[in-house]
Amino acid sequence: MDFVKAATVDEFADLSHKVIKLIGRPVGIIKREDGTFFGVEASCKHQGADLLTDYRGGTIAVCPRHKWEYDLESGRCLNHDSLPLKKYQVKIEGNDILISMLPVQEDQPSDIDFDRLK
Ligand code: FES
Repeated sequence: MDFVKAATVDEFADLSHKVIKLIGRPVGIIKREDGTFFGVEASCKHQGADLLTDYRGGTIAVCPRHKWEYDLESGRCLNHDSLPLKKYQVKIEGNDILISMLPVQEDQPSDIDFDRLK
């Protein structure tokens, strides 16, 4: 998987998150309370609003437009049926924060009844 430099650890001294563009898509780099980082899609699955506009830290983000709530760690929407937010792999190299160019594929919906589709 290819990674690009997205930020530096120093930038997060007073920040809980930063939004970058990856291949034209907004992606949030989130700093956990323990100082580690993760990457997550930053557009609402409903109508694409900026999910991190009102975000101030923690694991829950509420979309400012129609109040869909997401667990940013898992990507799951907590109050609507929705595909999960895509997750991105984050690596730290020295002071650099690198992020995968493409989302991690592990969050495909697991509750599809494939037997019913035959
Ligand atoms: S655009 Fe996010 S809830 Fe509608």
